[in-house]
Amino acid sequence: MNRNLGVLISGRGSNLQAIMRAIADGRLDARIAVVISNRAEAAGLQRAREAGIETLCLSHRSCATREEYDGRLVEALRARDIGLVCLAGFMRLLGPTFIEAFPNAILNIHPSLLPAFPGLDAQHQAWQHGVKVSGATVHLVNCDLDAGPIILQAAVPVLNTDTPDTLAARILVEEHRLYPEAIRLVLDGGWEIVGRRFVRRAAV
Ligand code: GRF
Repeated sequence: MNRNLGVLISGRGSNLQAIMRAIADGRLDARIAVVISNRAEAAGLQRAREAGIETLCLSHRSCATREEYDGRLVEALRARDIGLVCLAGFMRLLGPTFIEAFPNAILNIHPSLLPAFPGLDAQHQAWQHGVKVSGATVHLVNCDLDAGPIILQAAVPVLNTDTPDTLAARILVEEHRLYPEAIRLVLDGGWEIVGRRFVRRAAV
C-alpha cells in the first residue's frame, strides 16, 4: 500500500503527534505528506509545521455544500498521492464523495469501545452511562457514523473516582499507542474485509 498519509484534524492534534513520533522512532514506516484542518486555529497545524510537514487549512465555510467540501478535500489529497487518510479528531462528517474516493483507505480513532457510544463526547457518554470498561477504537470509515470495520481496540477501566476528564485522559494514552499500530497493520497489508470484519490472513 502507498505509505503516504494524509492526516485530517480539527483541534489539538495529540494523535497526529503520536503518529509523527511513531514515524520518527521507526515504529511506523510511513510519511505524513500533508496535514489538513478545517479550522485555522487548530493547534495540531502548528505541531505539523514545526516538524516540517506541509499543512493546509480548508474551511468548510467556503463551500456551499458538503459535496463541494468533500470534493476539495479529495482533490488536495489526490494531488499529494495519499494512500491512506487518517482522521485524527476531524470534526466534520464525510459524505459518499469522500468515502468512495478512498475505498477501505480511511481510518478514524474514536474514544470508546465501539459500537458503544458513537458520536460526540464519547467519554462523557460512557461515564454517564456507568459502564465499568470503556476504551478506544480505530476503525475503517464508511458512510455510517463511527460504524466501519474495527481494526484495533484497547480497553480502559472506568474507576469510581473518575470524572469524564480523568477517563478521557486515560483513554487518550491508549489512543496514542493504538493509532500508529493500526496504521502499521493496514499499511502492511495481508488483510481483508469479510462481512464487516477486518480479518488478518494468517502468516504462512
Ligand atoms: C480524540 O479523543 C479522538 O479519539 C477523537 O477526537 C480526539 C482528538 O484529539 N476522535 P487530538 O486532536 O488527537 O488530541
